[in-house]
Amino acid sequence: MSGKQRVFIGDFVHCKTLDTLEILEDTAIFVDEEGVIVAIERGCDLKKAEEISIPRLGWVKEDVMVRVARKGQFFFPGFVDTHIHAPQYPNVGIFGKSTLLDWLTTYTFPMESSLKDLARARSVYTRCIKRTLSHGTTTAAYYATIHVATTNLLSDLCLANGQRAFVGRCCLDSLSPDWYIDESPAQAIKDTRATIEHIANIDPSNKLITPILTPRFAPGCSTELMTQLGALHKETNLPFQTHISENKGELDLVKELFPNSPNYTSVYDSHGLLTPKTILAHAIHLDESEVDLIIKRQSKVSHCPCSNSSITSGTCKVRWLLEKGVEVGLGTDVSGGYSPSILEAARQASLVSRHIAMSGDDKAKLSIEEVLYLATRGGANVVGLEQKIGGFEVGMEWDAQLIGLGPNYWSEDEGNPECVKALEGVEESPVDMFGWENWEERIAKWVFNGDDRNTLAVWVKGRLVHEIRK
Ligand code: GUN
Ligand code: FE
Repeated sequence: MSGKQRVFIGDFVHCKTLDTLEILEDTAIFVDEEGVIVAIERGCDLKKAEEISIPRLGWVKEDVMVRVARKGQFFFPGFVDTHIHAPQYPNVGIFGKSTLLDWLTTYTFPMESSLKDLARARSVYTRCIKRTLSHGTTTAAYYATIHVATTNLLSDLCLANGQRAFVGRCCLDSLSPDWYIDESPAQAIKDTRATIEHIANIDPSNKLITPILTPRFAPGCSTELMTQLGALHKETNLPFQTHISENKGELDLVKELFPNSPNYTSVYDSHGLLTPKTILAHAIHLDESEVDLIIKRQSKVSHCPCSNSSITSGTCKVRWLLEKGVEVGLGTDVSGGYSPSILEAARQASLVSRHIAMSGDDKAKLSIEEVLYLATRGGANVVGLEQKIGGFEVGMEWDAQLIGLGPNYWSEDEGNPECVKALEGVEESPVDMFGWENWEERIAKWVFNGDDRNTLAVWVKGRLVHEIRK
Protein backbone atom coordinates (compact mmCIF):
# COMPACT_ATOMS: atom_id res chain seq x y z
CA MET A 1 0.00 0.00 0.00
CA SER A 2 1.52 3.29 -1.07
CA GLY A 3 0.62 6.54 0.60
CA LYS A 4 0.93 10.10 -0.57
CA GLN A 5 3.94 12.29 -1.01
CA ARG A 6 4.11 14.69 1.90
CA VAL A 7 5.98 17.78 2.94
CA PHE A 8 6.36 18.91 6.53
CA ILE A 9 7.38 22.51 7.12
CA GLY A 10 8.34 24.28 10.33
CA ASP A 11 10.62 23.58 13.28
CA PHE A 12 11.98 20.09 13.94
CA VAL A 13 13.66 18.79 17.09
CA HIS A 14 15.46 15.44 17.37
CA CYS A 15 18.28 13.79 19.28
CA LYS A 16 21.61 13.89 17.53
CA THR A 17 23.58 11.98 20.18
CA LEU A 18 22.87 10.80 23.72
CA ASP A 19 23.34 14.29 25.10
CA THR A 20 22.59 16.64 22.23
CA LEU A 21 19.38 17.80 20.65
CA GLU A 22 19.41 19.28 17.17
CA ILE A 23 16.92 22.03 16.39
CA LEU A 24 16.10 22.51 12.72
CA GLU A 25 14.23 25.80 12.46
CA ASP A 26 12.33 26.84 9.31
CA THR A 27 13.01 23.53 7.63
CA ALA A 28 11.11 21.35 5.17
CA ILE A 29 11.18 17.55 5.20
CA PHE A 30 10.03 15.67 2.09
CA VAL A 31 8.56 12.20 2.50
CA ASP A 32 7.85 9.86 -0.43
CA GLU A 33 4.89 7.50 -1.00
CA GLU A 34 6.63 4.75 0.98
CA GLY A 35 7.02 6.99 4.01
CA VAL A 36 10.77 7.48 3.50
CA ILE A 37 12.43 10.87 4.07
CA VAL A 38 13.95 11.85 0.71
CA ALA A 39 15.11 15.39 1.42
CA ILE A 40 15.66 17.79 4.31
CA GLU A 41 16.00 21.47 3.42
CA ARG A 42 16.96 24.14 5.91
CA GLY A 43 15.69 27.66 5.35
CA CYS A 44 12.69 26.47 3.39
CA ASP A 45 9.18 27.88 3.70
CA LEU A 46 5.93 26.89 2.00
CA LYS A 47 6.52 29.11 -1.01
CA LYS A 48 10.02 27.82 -1.64
CA ALA A 49 8.90 24.21 -1.11
CA GLU A 50 6.07 24.56 -3.61
CA GLU A 51 7.91 26.56 -6.23
CA ILE A 52 11.35 25.00 -6.14
CA SER A 53 11.78 21.85 -4.06
CA ILE A 54 8.64 19.91 -5.03
CA PRO A 55 9.19 20.34 -8.80
CA ARG A 56 12.88 19.47 -8.34
CA LEU A 57 11.83 16.12 -6.82
CA GLY A 58 9.68 15.52 -9.89
CA TRP A 59 6.54 15.69 -7.77
CA VAL A 60 3.32 17.45 -8.77
CA LYS A 61 2.36 20.18 -6.31
CA GLU A 62 -1.35 19.33 -6.42
CA ASP A 63 -0.67 15.70 -5.41
CA VAL A 64 1.48 16.51 -2.39
CA MET A 65 0.04 16.83 1.11
CA VAL A 66 1.60 19.72 2.99
CA ARG A 67 1.59 20.19 6.76
CA VAL A 68 2.92 23.43 8.12
CA ALA A 69 3.65 23.59 11.86
CA ARG A 70 2.47 26.83 13.40
CA LYS A 71 4.38 29.00 15.81
CA GLY A 72 4.70 27.18 19.13
CA GLN A 73 4.58 23.79 17.40
CA PHE A 74 7.40 21.47 16.41
CA PHE A 75 7.90 18.04 14.90
CA PHE A 76 9.59 15.39 17.06
CA PRO A 77 10.40 11.74 16.24
CA GLY A 78 7.80 9.19 17.34
CA PHE A 79 8.42 7.43 20.63
CA VAL A 80 9.49 3.79 20.89
CA ASP A 81 7.95 1.77 23.72
CA THR A 82 10.39 -1.12 24.10
CA HIS A 83 8.25 -3.01 26.62
CA ILE A 84 4.46 -3.04 26.98
CA HIS A 85 1.84 -5.69 27.83
CA ALA A 86 -1.27 -4.90 25.75
CA PRO A 87 -3.54 -7.35 27.66
CA GLN A 88 -2.72 -5.61 30.95
CA TYR A 89 -4.02 -2.26 29.66
CA PRO A 90 -7.33 -2.44 31.62
CA ASN A 91 -5.28 -2.76 34.84
CA VAL A 92 -3.33 0.50 34.56
CA GLY A 93 -3.00 2.06 37.99
CA ILE A 94 -4.08 -1.06 39.87
CA PHE A 95 -1.25 -2.56 41.88
CA GLY A 96 -1.91 -1.65 45.51
CA LYS A 97 1.04 -2.55 47.71
CA SER A 98 1.93 -5.66 45.73
CA THR A 99 5.36 -6.58 44.44
CA LEU A 100 6.11 -8.57 41.29
CA LEU A 101 5.21 -12.15 42.25
CA ASP A 102 1.97 -11.44 44.12
CA TRP A 103 1.10 -8.71 41.57
CA LEU A 104 1.30 -11.38 38.84
CA THR A 105 -1.07 -13.78 40.61
CA THR A 106 -3.44 -11.15 42.04
CA TYR A 107 -3.93 -8.82 39.08
CA THR A 108 -2.09 -9.91 36.00
CA PHE A 109 -2.72 -13.58 35.29
CA PRO A 110 -6.52 -13.26 35.82
CA MET A 111 -6.66 -10.28 33.44
CA GLU A 112 -4.47 -11.92 30.81
CA SER A 113 -6.41 -15.20 30.90
CA SER A 114 -9.61 -13.24 30.20
CA LEU A 115 -8.08 -11.96 26.97
CA LYS A 116 -8.70 -15.34 25.38
CA ASP A 117 -12.07 -13.94 24.42
CA LEU A 118 -11.96 -12.41 20.94
CA ALA A 119 -14.52 -9.64 21.49
CA ARG A 120 -12.89 -8.58 24.75
CA ALA A 121 -9.43 -8.69 23.17
CA ARG A 122 -10.61 -6.57 20.25
CA SER A 123 -11.90 -3.92 22.62
CA VAL A 124 -8.86 -3.91 24.95
CA TYR A 125 -6.25 -4.06 22.20
CA THR A 126 -7.91 -1.37 20.08
CA ARG A 127 -8.01 0.98 23.06
CA CYS A 128 -4.41 0.22 23.96
CA ILE A 129 -3.17 0.90 20.43
CA LYS A 130 -5.19 4.09 20.00
CA ARG A 131 -4.17 5.39 23.39
CA THR A 132 -0.46 4.73 22.91
CA LEU A 133 -0.62 6.30 19.43
CA SER A 134 -2.29 9.34 20.98
CA HIS A 135 0.74 9.67 23.27
CA GLY A 136 3.12 9.56 20.31
CA THR A 137 4.18 5.90 20.51
CA THR A 138 4.85 5.03 16.89
CA THR A 139 6.61 1.72 17.65
CA ALA A 140 5.75 -0.72 20.44
CA ALA A 141 7.22 -4.07 21.51
CA TYR A 142 4.10 -5.86 22.73
CA TYR A 143 3.67 -8.90 24.92
CA ALA A 144 0.27 -10.47 24.22
CA THR A 145 -1.02 -13.56 26.08
CA ILE A 146 -0.62 -17.31 25.62
CA HIS A 147 -3.65 -17.34 23.28
CA VAL A 148 -2.90 -17.60 19.56
CA ALA A 149 -6.15 -16.21 18.15
CA THR A 150 -6.12 -13.02 20.19
CA THR A 151 -2.36 -12.54 19.80
CA ASN A 152 -2.93 -12.69 16.05
CA LEU A 153 -5.75 -10.21 16.46
CA LEU A 154 -3.37 -7.82 18.23
CA SER A 155 -1.08 -7.92 15.19
CA ASP A 156 -4.08 -7.32 12.86
CA LEU A 157 -5.15 -4.32 14.92
CA CYS A 158 -1.64 -2.80 15.00
CA LEU A 159 -1.52 -3.11 11.22
CA ALA A 160 -5.01 -1.66 10.76
CA ASN A 161 -4.32 1.28 13.08
CA GLY A 162 -0.91 1.87 11.53
CA GLN A 163 1.27 1.32 14.60
CA ARG A 164 4.70 -0.22 14.01
CA ALA A 165 4.85 -3.19 16.35
CA PHE A 166 6.64 -6.27 17.55
CA VAL A 167 4.03 -8.76 18.67
CA GLY A 168 4.90 -11.66 20.94
CA ARG A 169 2.76 -14.63 21.86
CA CYS A 170 3.72 -15.01 25.50
CA CYS A 171 5.35 -18.36 26.45
CA LEU A 172 4.61 -19.54 29.98
CA ASP A 173 4.74 -23.24 30.88
CA SER A 174 5.80 -23.21 34.56
CA LEU A 175 4.83 -21.84 37.94
CA SER A 176 1.56 -20.42 36.75
CA PRO A 177 -2.07 -21.28 37.62
CA ASP A 178 -3.55 -24.22 35.71
CA TRP A 179 -6.06 -21.86 34.05
CA TYR A 180 -3.30 -19.75 32.48
CA ILE A 181 -0.40 -21.91 31.39
CA ASP A 182 1.03 -23.50 28.26
CA GLU A 183 0.17 -27.21 28.12
CA SER A 184 3.71 -28.22 27.18
CA PRO A 185 6.87 -26.81 25.61
CA ALA A 186 5.86 -28.42 22.31
CA GLN A 187 2.46 -26.71 22.43
CA ALA A 188 4.06 -23.37 23.25
CA ILE A 189 6.38 -23.67 20.25
CA LYS A 190 3.56 -24.76 17.95
CA ASP A 191 1.48 -21.78 19.05
CA THR A 192 4.43 -19.41 18.67
CA ARG A 193 4.91 -20.69 15.13
CA ALA A 194 1.21 -20.11 14.43
CA THR A 195 1.59 -16.42 15.27
CA ILE A 196 4.78 -16.15 13.21
CA GLU A 197 2.90 -17.60 10.23
CA HIS A 198 -0.06 -15.32 10.76
CA ILE A 199 2.13 -12.22 10.73
CA ALA A 200 3.95 -13.51 7.64
CA ASN A 201 0.54 -13.63 5.94
CA ILE A 202 -0.69 -10.18 6.93
CA ASP A 203 2.63 -8.30 6.55
CA PRO A 204 4.94 -10.53 4.50
CA SER A 205 8.00 -8.29 4.56
CA ASN A 206 7.48 -7.11 8.15
CA LYS A 207 7.15 -3.53 7.01
CA LEU A 208 5.11 -2.68 10.08
CA ILE A 209 4.58 -5.82 12.17
CA THR A 210 7.29 -8.27 13.26
CA PRO A 211 6.80 -11.37 15.39
CA ILE A 212 8.96 -11.52 18.52
CA LEU A 213 9.86 -14.63 20.52
CA THR A 214 8.60 -14.09 24.06
CA PRO A 215 9.68 -16.37 26.90
CA ARG A 216 7.88 -14.48 29.68
CA PHE A 217 10.68 -14.81 32.25
CA ALA A 218 12.95 -17.58 33.48
CA PRO A 219 10.75 -18.64 36.42
CA GLY A 220 7.81 -19.08 34.03
CA CYS A 221 9.65 -21.16 31.44
CA SER A 222 10.98 -24.72 31.63
CA THR A 223 14.48 -25.55 30.44
CA GLU A 224 12.93 -27.48 27.57
CA LEU A 225 10.84 -24.49 26.45
CA MET A 226 13.76 -22.06 26.61
CA THR A 227 15.99 -24.49 24.69
CA GLN A 228 13.38 -24.86 21.97
CA LEU A 229 12.90 -21.08 21.76
CA GLY A 230 16.69 -20.71 21.38
CA ALA A 231 16.53 -23.18 18.48
CA LEU A 232 13.59 -21.30 16.96
CA HIS A 233 15.62 -18.09 17.05
CA LYS A 234 18.49 -19.86 15.26
CA GLU A 235 16.04 -21.03 12.61
CA THR A 236 14.16 -17.74 12.10
CA ASN A 237 16.55 -15.02 13.36
CA LEU A 238 13.50 -13.38 14.98
CA PRO A 239 14.01 -11.03 17.95
CA PHE A 240 13.48 -12.02 21.59
CA GLN A 241 11.95 -10.21 24.53
CA THR A 242 11.87 -11.23 28.17
CA HIS A 243 12.18 -9.90 31.72
CA ILE A 244 15.40 -9.99 33.74
CA SER A 245 16.44 -9.23 37.29
CA GLU A 246 13.39 -7.19 38.23
CA ASN A 247 12.63 -8.15 41.81
CA LYS A 248 14.49 -9.73 44.74
CA GLY A 249 11.90 -12.49 45.27
CA GLU A 250 12.15 -13.34 41.58
CA LEU A 251 15.95 -13.56 41.89
CA ASP A 252 15.60 -16.06 44.78
CA LEU A 253 13.22 -18.10 42.67
CA VAL A 254 15.65 -18.16 39.76
CA LYS A 255 18.43 -19.38 42.09
CA GLU A 256 16.20 -22.12 43.40
CA LEU A 257 14.98 -23.23 39.96
CA PHE A 258 18.35 -23.04 38.19
CA PRO A 259 20.89 -23.99 40.91
CA ASN A 260 23.62 -24.69 38.36
CA SER A 261 23.55 -21.21 36.86
CA PRO A 262 25.79 -18.63 38.52
CA ASN A 263 23.21 -15.87 37.99
CA TYR A 264 20.00 -14.81 36.22
CA THR A 265 21.73 -13.64 33.03
CA SER A 266 23.56 -16.93 32.57
CA VAL A 267 20.23 -18.81 32.73
CA TYR A 268 19.19 -17.07 29.51
CA ASP A 269 22.64 -17.36 28.00
CA SER A 270 22.88 -21.10 28.58
CA HIS A 271 19.59 -21.55 26.69
CA GLY A 272 20.70 -19.48 23.69
CA LEU A 273 18.37 -16.57 24.48
CA LEU A 274 20.98 -13.82 24.81
CA THR A 275 21.52 -12.46 21.31
CA PRO A 276 21.97 -9.04 19.66
CA LYS A 277 18.22 -9.17 19.05
CA THR A 278 17.26 -9.74 22.70
CA ILE A 279 15.36 -7.06 24.65
CA LEU A 280 15.77 -7.49 28.42
CA ALA A 281 13.24 -5.56 30.50
CA HIS A 282 14.13 -4.07 33.90
CA ALA A 283 17.76 -5.23 34.48
CA ILE A 284 17.70 -3.71 37.98
CA HIS A 285 19.73 -6.04 40.20
CA LEU A 286 22.41 -7.21 37.76
CA ASP A 287 25.97 -7.58 38.94
CA GLU A 288 28.99 -6.46 36.93
CA SER A 289 29.66 -9.88 35.40
CA GLU A 290 26.06 -10.07 34.17
CA VAL A 291 26.31 -6.67 32.49
CA ASP A 292 29.58 -7.75 30.89
CA LEU A 293 27.87 -10.86 29.52
CA ILE A 294 24.96 -8.76 28.17
CA ILE A 295 27.46 -6.50 26.42
CA LYS A 296 29.37 -9.48 25.03
CA ARG A 297 26.16 -10.87 23.55
CA GLN A 298 25.08 -7.36 22.43
CA SER A 299 21.67 -7.78 24.04
CA LYS A 300 19.66 -4.65 24.83
CA VAL A 301 17.91 -3.27 27.92
CA SER A 302 14.43 -1.79 28.28
CA HIS A 303 14.35 0.61 31.23
CA CYS A 304 10.87 0.75 32.80
CA PRO A 305 11.11 3.37 35.56
CA CYS A 306 7.38 3.87 36.10
CA SER A 307 6.86 0.15 36.67
CA ASN A 308 9.96 -0.20 38.82
CA SER A 309 8.69 2.48 41.19
CA SER A 310 5.03 1.39 41.11
CA ILE A 311 5.55 -2.25 42.04
CA THR A 312 8.64 -1.29 44.08
CA SER A 313 11.07 -3.46 42.15
CA GLY A 314 14.10 -1.20 42.55
CA THR A 315 16.12 1.50 40.81
CA CYS A 316 17.82 0.61 37.55
CA LYS A 317 21.29 2.16 37.34
CA VAL A 318 20.95 3.52 33.82
CA ARG A 319 24.09 5.70 33.90
CA TRP A 320 26.14 2.66 34.88
CA LEU A 321 24.62 0.59 32.06
CA LEU A 322 25.20 3.36 29.51
CA GLU A 323 28.77 3.94 30.62
CA LYS A 324 29.50 0.24 30.35
CA GLY A 325 28.15 0.35 26.79
CA VAL A 326 24.71 -1.25 27.04
CA GLU A 327 22.08 -0.01 24.56
CA VAL A 328 19.09 1.24 26.58
CA GLY A 329 15.55 2.26 25.60
CA LEU A 330 12.42 3.11 27.58
CA GLY A 331 9.39 0.93 28.29
CA THR A 332 6.07 1.79 29.89
CA ASP A 333 5.65 -1.82 31.08
CA VAL A 334 1.90 -1.30 31.23
CA SER A 335 0.47 -2.31 33.67
CA GLY A 336 3.38 -2.73 36.06
CA GLY A 337 3.76 0.88 34.97
CA TYR A 338 0.58 2.91 35.40
CA SER A 339 1.01 5.10 32.33
CA PRO A 340 0.83 4.25 28.62
CA SER A 341 2.96 7.32 27.84
CA ILE A 342 6.64 7.20 26.93
CA LEU A 343 6.84 10.91 27.76
CA GLU A 344 5.87 9.89 31.30
CA ALA A 345 8.52 7.14 31.17
CA ALA A 346 11.10 9.76 30.18
CA ARG A 347 10.02 11.96 33.08
CA GLN A 348 10.15 9.02 35.50
CA ALA A 349 13.59 8.03 34.15
CA SER A 350 14.76 11.53 35.01
CA LEU A 351 13.30 11.39 38.53
CA VAL A 352 14.58 7.89 39.31
CA SER A 353 18.06 8.96 38.21
CA ARG A 354 17.77 11.87 40.66
CA HIS A 355 16.99 9.45 43.48
CA ILE A 356 20.17 7.56 42.65
CA ALA A 357 21.99 10.89 42.65
CA MET A 358 20.60 11.66 46.11
CA SER A 359 22.07 8.39 47.36
CA GLY A 360 25.51 9.78 46.57
CA ASP A 361 26.17 9.23 42.87
CA ASP A 362 25.66 12.70 41.43
CA LYS A 363 26.67 11.77 37.89
CA ALA A 364 23.76 9.30 37.77
CA LYS A 365 21.41 12.19 36.92
CA LEU A 366 19.98 11.88 33.42
CA SER A 367 19.46 15.09 31.46
CA ILE A 368 16.40 16.03 29.39
CA GLU A 369 18.41 15.32 26.24
CA GLU A 370 19.37 11.89 27.55
CA VAL A 371 15.87 10.76 28.50
CA LEU A 372 14.54 11.96 25.13
CA TYR A 373 17.34 10.04 23.40
CA LEU A 374 16.31 6.89 25.30
CA ALA A 375 12.69 7.52 24.22
CA THR A 376 13.58 7.75 20.52
CA ARG A 377 16.98 6.70 19.13
CA GLY A 378 17.80 4.54 22.16
CA GLY A 379 14.51 2.69 21.73
CA ALA A 380 15.14 2.34 18.00
CA ASN A 381 18.52 0.70 18.80
CA VAL A 382 16.89 -1.64 21.28
CA VAL A 383 14.33 -2.91 18.75
CA GLY A 384 16.95 -3.05 15.96
CA LEU A 385 15.43 -0.26 13.84
CA GLU A 386 18.12 2.39 14.31
CA GLN A 387 18.59 2.72 10.56
CA LYS A 388 14.87 3.35 10.03
CA ILE A 389 13.43 5.36 12.91
CA GLY A 390 14.30 7.53 15.89
CA GLY A 391 15.48 10.70 14.13
CA PHE A 392 15.07 12.92 11.11
CA GLU A 393 17.63 11.76 8.51
CA VAL A 394 17.36 11.23 4.77
CA GLY A 395 16.66 7.52 4.24
CA MET A 396 14.82 7.12 7.54
CA GLU A 397 11.06 6.63 7.69
CA TRP A 398 8.67 9.38 8.76
CA ASP A 399 7.60 8.20 12.24
CA ALA A 400 6.88 11.50 13.90
CA GLN A 401 4.65 13.55 16.16
CA LEU A 402 3.61 17.19 15.97
CA ILE A 403 3.90 18.78 19.39
CA GLY A 404 1.98 21.92 20.24
CA LEU A 405 2.81 23.96 23.29
CA GLY A 406 -0.25 26.05 22.60
CA PRO A 407 -2.99 27.55 24.74
CA ASN A 408 -4.10 24.09 25.83
CA TYR A 409 -0.70 23.52 27.36
CA TRP A 410 -1.58 24.38 30.94
CA SER A 411 -4.02 21.84 32.29
CA GLU A 412 -5.55 24.34 34.73
CA ASP A 413 -6.76 26.40 31.77
CA GLU A 414 -8.99 23.59 30.64
CA GLY A 415 -12.63 24.13 31.32
CA ASN A 416 -12.00 27.38 33.14
CA PRO A 417 -14.19 29.89 31.25
CA GLU A 418 -12.11 32.88 32.28
CA CYS A 419 -8.94 31.32 31.00
CA VAL A 420 -10.57 30.12 27.81
CA LYS A 421 -11.92 33.62 27.21
CA ALA A 422 -8.57 35.22 27.98
CA LEU A 423 -6.93 32.95 25.45
CA GLU A 424 -9.41 33.62 22.65
CA GLY A 425 -7.62 34.70 19.54
CA VAL A 426 -4.23 34.14 21.14
CA GLU A 427 -2.08 32.38 18.59
CA GLU A 428 1.22 32.03 20.32
CA SER A 429 1.98 29.59 23.06
CA PRO A 430 1.70 30.64 26.71
CA VAL A 431 4.91 28.68 27.17
CA ASP A 432 6.52 31.30 25.02
CA MET A 433 4.23 33.98 26.42
CA PHE A 434 6.94 36.56 27.04
CA GLY A 435 9.20 35.39 24.25
CA TRP A 436 12.06 34.70 26.63
CA GLU A 437 12.16 30.90 26.54
CA ASN A 438 14.79 29.23 24.45
CA TRP A 439 14.39 25.81 22.88
CA GLU A 440 16.02 24.05 25.81
CA GLU A 441 13.49 25.54 28.21
CA ARG A 442 10.53 24.86 25.96
CA ILE A 443 11.54 21.20 25.62
CA ALA A 444 12.02 20.93 29.38
CA LYS A 445 8.50 22.28 29.93
CA TRP A 446 7.14 19.73 27.48
CA VAL A 447 8.96 16.83 29.15
CA PHE A 448 7.84 17.76 32.68
CA ASN A 449 4.35 19.16 32.00
CA GLY A 450 3.30 17.75 28.65
CA ASP A 451 0.78 15.03 27.94
CA ASP A 452 -1.31 13.72 25.06
CA ARG A 453 -3.04 17.10 24.65
CA ASN A 454 0.25 18.38 23.30
CA THR A 455 0.51 15.53 20.79
CA LEU A 456 -1.45 17.16 18.00
CA ALA A 457 -0.78 14.62 15.26
CA VAL A 458 1.16 11.38 14.80
CA TRP A 459 2.49 9.68 11.67
CA VAL A 460 3.95 6.21 11.12
CA LYS A 461 5.81 5.45 7.89
CA GLY A 462 4.37 8.64 6.42
CA ARG A 463 0.77 7.78 7.28
CA LEU A 464 -1.29 9.99 9.61
CA VAL A 465 -2.40 7.66 12.43
CA HIS A 466 -3.66 10.08 15.07
CA GLU A 467 -4.81 13.66 15.17
CA ILE A 468 -6.48 15.81 17.81
CA ARG A 469 -9.74 17.00 16.38
CA LYS A 470 -10.06 20.73 16.66
N1 GUN B 1 7.72 -10.73 34.95
C1 GUN B 1 6.99 -11.73 34.42
N2 GUN B 1 5.84 -11.29 33.89
C2 GUN B 1 5.84 -9.96 34.08
C3 GUN B 1 4.91 -8.93 33.74
O1 GUN B 1 3.86 -9.14 33.16
N3 GUN B 1 5.27 -7.65 34.08
C4 GUN B 1 6.43 -7.38 34.73
N4 GUN B 1 6.71 -6.13 35.04
N5 GUN B 1 7.30 -8.33 35.08
C5 GUN B 1 7.01 -9.60 34.74
FE1 FE C 1 6.78 -6.41 31.78
